[in-house]
Amino acid sequence: MRLTLLSLLPIAAAAPGNMLQHAVKPVYWLLAGDSTTAPAGGWGDAFLSTTVAKDSSGHNYGHSGATTKSFRAGGDWQNVISDVGTYKKDYRVYVTIQFGHNDQKPTSGVTLTDYKTNLGNFASEVTAAGGVPILVTPLTRRSFNSTTKRVIENLSNETAITIAVATEKKAHFIDLNKASTDYVNAIGENAITPYNLNGTDRTHLSDWGGVVFARIVSDLLVEKYPSEFEEVTRKNATLSATIKAGKPA
Ligand SMILES: *[C@@H]1O[C@H](CO)[C@@H](O)[C@H](O)[C@H]1NC(C)=O
Ligand SMILES: *[C@@H]1O[C@H](CO)[C@@H](O)[C@H](O)[C@H]1NC(C)=O
Ligand SMILES: *[C@@H]1O[C@H](CO)[C@@H](O)[C@H](O)[C@H]1NC(C)=O
Ligand SMILES: *[C@@H]1O[C@H](CO)[C@@H](O)[C@H](O)[C@H]1NC(C)=O
Ligand SMILES: *[C@@H]1O[C@H](CO)[C@@H](O)[C@H](O)[C@H]1NC(C)=O
Repeated sequence: MRLTLLSLLPIAAAAPGNMLQHAVKPVYWLLAGDSTTAPAGGWGDAFLSTTVAKDSSGHNYGHSGATTKSFRAGGDWQNVISDVGTYKKDYRVYVTIQFGHNDQKPTSGVTLTDYKTNLGNFASEVTAAGGVPILVTPLTRRSFNSTTKRVIENLSNETAITIAVATEKKAHFIDLNKASTDYVNAIGENAITPYNLNGTDRTHLSDWGGVVFARIVSDLLVEKYPSEFEEVTRKNATLSATIKAGKPA
């Protein structure tokens, strides 16, 4: 009997994902961030509506104008943490944390040191509440240097700090700043207009821009953490391939 069971093991191990599929809990996504995550201008809504597989779900807490300081002071962060508690029974709860565009403003009242402390606290509090934090480096702005024809990278401090916090906390992170900068550089300034919220706004995203940059977020997550996200992701192979090829989508 024992021999029979053992001899079955290699077959089970070699079987495709189906056998495990039902053992894996779906994911509840909580998206924390500024306007580049928020509805009407960010990637968050498109992430939930176009990349999340059936049975998984989530809520976009992105808040226009938010810094790591105001997001807590205004009560959004408490809602995120409260939701972790609500959903962790039935889901694996992940919290994406993406800030920087407002923290970087001289008037924000948030120094780079504060930014680092605040991100670290967000990550620790998600873990303590029973969720998994994912630090996300800030989406690039799409302004180009007219001499070099390259994106003006003006969130490099915030990007480096976000990665440093993730490393210190041994937390998940994805480098959206690098991936979005690389993609925007690859397609070039003449191809970015469809992604802009409007003609002059090179920070916020149109609905289609949301779909494209949400796919970049999703692809980064699946590539880096396949055992956690492969099965709970709705793929779009065409769109992923176009992005990977550096072609306008
Ligand atoms: C554009 O690139 C040039 C050449 O590297 C540099 O001197 C200039 O400061 C850049 N301008 C901006 C706005 O980044
Ligand atoms: C970053 O870019 C924004 C939008 O172009 C600009 O307002 C801001 O001054 C820039 N900040 C830095 C530190 O370069
Ligand atoms: C990065 O931070 C340093 C100070 O730590 C500052 O001098 C520099 O202007 C910042 N760069 C950007 C692009 O904000
Ligand atoms: C573009 O969007 C910005 C907000 O991001 C807004 O202030 C501006 O009025 C808009 N412009 C047009 C032409 O819609
Ligand atoms: C996948 O992306 C393509 C653009 O690359 C889009 O036309 C298509 O509608 C998307 N398919 C689905 C099922 O969302």
